Amino acid sequence: MVKIGNIELPEFPLLLAPMEDVSDPPFRAVCKDNGADLMYTEFISSEGLIRDAIKSRHKLDIFDYEKPIGIQIFGGDEEAMALSAKIVETVQPDLVDINFGCPVKKVVSKGAGAGVLKDLPLMTRLTEAVVKSTSLPVTVKTRLGWDDEHRNIEEVAERLQDVGIKALAIHGRTRTQMYKGEADWSLIAKVKNNPRIQIPIFGNGDIDSAEKAMEYKNRYGVDGIMIGRAAIGYPWIFNEIRHYMQTGTHLPAPTLQQRINVISKHLHKSVQWKGPIVGINEMRRHYANYLKGMPGIKEYRNRLVILKTAEEVDEVLAEIANKYADFEFEKLAIELVNYHEKCPL
Ligand SMILES: Cc1cc2nc3c(=O)[nH]c(=O)nc-3n(C[C@H](O)[C@H](O)[C@H](O)COP(=O)(O)O)c2cc1C
Repeated sequence: MVKIGNIELPEFPLLLAPMEDVSDPPFRAVCKDNGADLMYTEFISSEGLIRDAIKSRHKLDIFDYEKPIGIQIFGGDEEAMALSAKIVETVQPDLVDINFGCPVKKVVSKGAGAGVLKDLPLMTRLTEAVVKSTSLPVTVKTRLGWDDEHRNIEEVAERLQDVGIKALAIHGRTRTQMYKGEADWSLIAKVKNNPRIQIPIFGNGDIDSAEKAMEYKNRYGVDGIMIGRAAIGYPWIFNEIRHYMQTGTHLPAPTLQQRINVISKHLHKSVQWKGPIVGINEMRRHYANYLKGMPGIKEYRNRLVILKTAEEVDEVLAEIANKYADFEFEKLAIELVNYHEKCPL
């Protein structure tokens, strides 16, 4: 069993990564159904929270069925971070996570996100401010360091543990790497193997299959893994990894009915949470991902993305279910989109 403060997680937990514009309540609902052991919200601006900005407050929406869940905040000002941790506490998540990994210029230039990797005293002060202002366990998600010449995660981990964080998730890239190259887990393993480090260390970066998850678990010895991009359009990855780790065998590819159930749930939650117009619009990017490999996918995608109501989408989904009732999906490799240009987080 892995413990974050008093939160008990199963052995070798599988975490859904915080992803701006992705890991919102509708997406989290389908990841939870499919085996995510701990999930995080999108990152939330501490400045936005204390100014009562609608967008930031909306991101605080969490639901009982999601537990355990962490709310992620970011910011470069101690007071704002401390206050926002108090605001976060009012919605009773299981933990508060601090984002020290976001590489976007707008964020790092304010000393927030990965910006602190160049200023460890600031990082320590920000973390301490949050730890002191809340009774919730505080965790951190960060990268290996600022750039190749400054891969200081070992020192970062010690300092963060010393100020009281309860777990650390490490994305195996530097800030300047953004999404280029391959995630390097060897430094993550060094942090894990440091005898001074007692808190759980979660590895993150480029996990896209059950085999890779198993291989990295064995090779790097981390306490659990965090999955981001691979879950987009494929929330089944969590159960697939868990099953493979427990049995050494692969689950079959999700059936058409399982895929349609996921689309339908994601869609209806989207409409509920975002309203009918935004909810439908934002679902449009997901259909093709969920149905990848199905014959006639292009034609159906083109039809689905112009529909205006959930009822119309449900009708087309029923038509697909009927037409391809006997179709068996092949297991396809998951493609990790390079968000470097599209979304530099
Ligand atoms: C679209 C997108 C949005 C992201 N938003 C956040 C975020 O809000 N907070 C954060 O800590 N990391 C964010 N990340 C980084 C992911 O949490 C994760 O560290 C990264 O994608 C590497 O993991 P992966 O290879 O499993 O995707 C984001 C990544 C993507 C692709």
